[in-house]
Amino acid sequence: SIGPSADLHITNANLAPDGFRRAVVLAGDTFPGPVVRGKRGDSFAINVINDLTDGTMSKTTSIHWHGLFMKGSNWADGGAMVNQCPIGPRNSFLYSFSVPDQAGTFWYHSHYKTQYCDGLRGAIVIEDPNDPHKSLYDVDDDSTVITLADWYHNVSPVDAQQPLVFPSSTLINGKGRYLLGPQADLAVINVQQGKRYRFRLVSISCDPRFMFSIDGHQLTIIEADGVNTQPLTVDRLDIAAGQRYSVVLTANQRVSNYWIRAEPSFPGPASVPLDPLDKRNKAVLRYVGAPQSDPVSLLAPLGLLSKTLKETDLRPLENPAAPGAPNINGADVNINLVMGISILPSVAWSINGVSFKPPSVPVLLQILSGAQDASALMPQGSIYSLPANKVIQITISQPLLLGGTSEITRATHPFHLHGHSFSVIRSAGSNKYNYANPVRRDVVDTGAIGDNVTIRFVTDNPGPWFLHCHIDWHLEAGLAVIFAEDIPETSAANPVPQSWNDLCTDYGNLQPSD
Ligand code: C2O
Repeated sequence: SIGPSADLHITNANLAPDGFRRAVVLAGDTFPGPVVRGKRGDSFAINVINDLTDGTMSKTTSIHWHGLFMKGSNWADGGAMVNQCPIGPRNSFLYSFSVPDQAGTFWYHSHYKTQYCDGLRGAIVIEDPNDPHKSLYDVDDDSTVITLADWYHNVSPVDAQQPLVFPSSTLINGKGRYLLGPQADLAVINVQQGKRYRFRLVSISCDPRFMFSIDGHQLTIIEADGVNTQPLTVDRLDIAAGQRYSVVLTANQRVSNYWIRAEPSFPGPASVPLDPLDKRNKAVLRYVGAPQSDPVSLLAPLGLLSKTLKETDLRPLENPAAPGAPNINGADVNINLVMGISILPSVAWSINGVSFKPPSVPVLLQILSGAQDASALMPQGSIYSLPANKVIQITISQPLLLGGTSEITRATHPFHLHGHSFSVIRSAGSNKYNYANPVRRDVVDTGAIGDNVTIRFVTDNPGPWFLHCHIDWHLEAGLAVIFAEDIPETSAANPVPQSWNDLCTDYGNLQPSD
C-alpha cells in the first residue's frame, strides 16, 4: 500500500493474472494497483507519473479518486476533458486534495476512455481515527481489502467498439482463472478461528455485477460506498461496478478452507456456478491451521434458502433522512433522465436523446475562462446547470421501449455521481419511496429495462461533476451527463495550481505518436 503522499507510476507491462499473458496498464506496477491508505482529515498529495510507452494502447491518462468529494479541488477529480486535460506521456501531475469528512472504502481508476479496463484500478481505504461505532463491530482485524474485477484478454479500445463485450475471466485480488485455462493461483485470505474481521469489498469492475458470498459464513454489512450503515447480516450480496461494502465476518467455523465466490452477472450460465469443480470466480478463505489446499465446501448459498442483500434494507448509521424529507415534494429541482440506445452504425448510449461526447476543452477550464452559461459549455442535454444549496432529485430510468437486444437485457446500469453521495429515495425493483432513512451511497444500480430509481442530494460542492453509468463501455459510448454545480462560485471555490493549466498546454502539444 501507499500513504497519502506518494508517487504513483503509471506503466505498461505484460501480465498474466489468470494465466493468459497480455499487455496492460498498471498503477504502481501491480494489478490491482497499491491500496492508497489514509485517515479522515488527511491531505493527499499523489504524484501521478506517466511512464506509458506502449504505442498500441493509449499513452495518456487521468486518475479519478472514486467517492471522495474533492471539495475545493474539482480540478483533481480526474474526469478527462471534464475536470482536466489528460496527462501526456513523460509528464506527471500532482493530485492534491483533502478528505476532511469522509472515511471508509473508496477506489481509484483511470478516467481516460476505457483505460481502467486494461488494469489501472485499485482500492482506497480512509480510516476513521475516532470511529464512533468501532465498539459496535468489535473487529479484531480490519486490514483486508478484497477487490473484484472483470478481466479481458483483448486490449480495451478493441473491445469498446464491439456491441457485445464479455470478460475473459474474473479476478479476486488480482487472481483468477479462465475457462479451459491453466491452473493459475487463486487469492487466499487468511483468518484465525474465533476472530472477527472487517473485509473491505471493492468492485473495480468495468462491467458485470458480482454475487459475493463466502461458504459457511454470514456477512454483516457495516458500510456502503464510504457511508456507515446500521449492521445488516446477509448470506450474499450483489455488488455493481464501482460499489463498495465493508462486511464483518466472524471466523466461527471449523478450521478448514472455504470458497469465497464472486459470480459475475454474465456470461451467467456459461460459468456453471453450481459445478463444484469449476474454480473460476473464486478465492479461498483459509483458517490458520488448515491445509494449503483448495476448499471442499460444496455450494454457494442457494436462492430461496439464503438471505440476499436488498438495497431497501440498508440504513445509514447517522443522519439517516434524505435531504428535503419528510416532504415528498421536498426537492427544489427535479430532473428526469431517460436512457436510450442506438445500435447502428455502432453502439451509442444516450440520456434524454443525447449521447455524451467529451468536449475538446475541459468543462472546468471553460468555466474558469468565464463561461457562465451551461449551454455555452456543452451541447444541450449533455450538461445540466444546478443552483447552489438546493435539494436536487433525479430519477434515472431505462424504458421498456429500448428493445430486446442482449446488450440491454443482460445488464442493469450502475450510475455514479462524482462530488457527492446521494440518498436512494427509491431503489431498483421497488415502488416504495423512502425519505426517512434511505441508504446513502455514490453508485446506484438502476435496475433492468422498465425499471428506474430516484436519488437526492444537496448542491454544496461547486464545480462540474460527472454522472454516468459505471459500465465503462457504456460511459465510453455516451451514457453520461455533466452537472455544472454553482457555476458562479466554481472558480473561487476551486483554486487551480499552475501545473493544472500546464497540463492543457502539454496536451495540446502532443504528437500523433503520443
Ligand atoms: Cu468511478 Cu466517473 O467514476
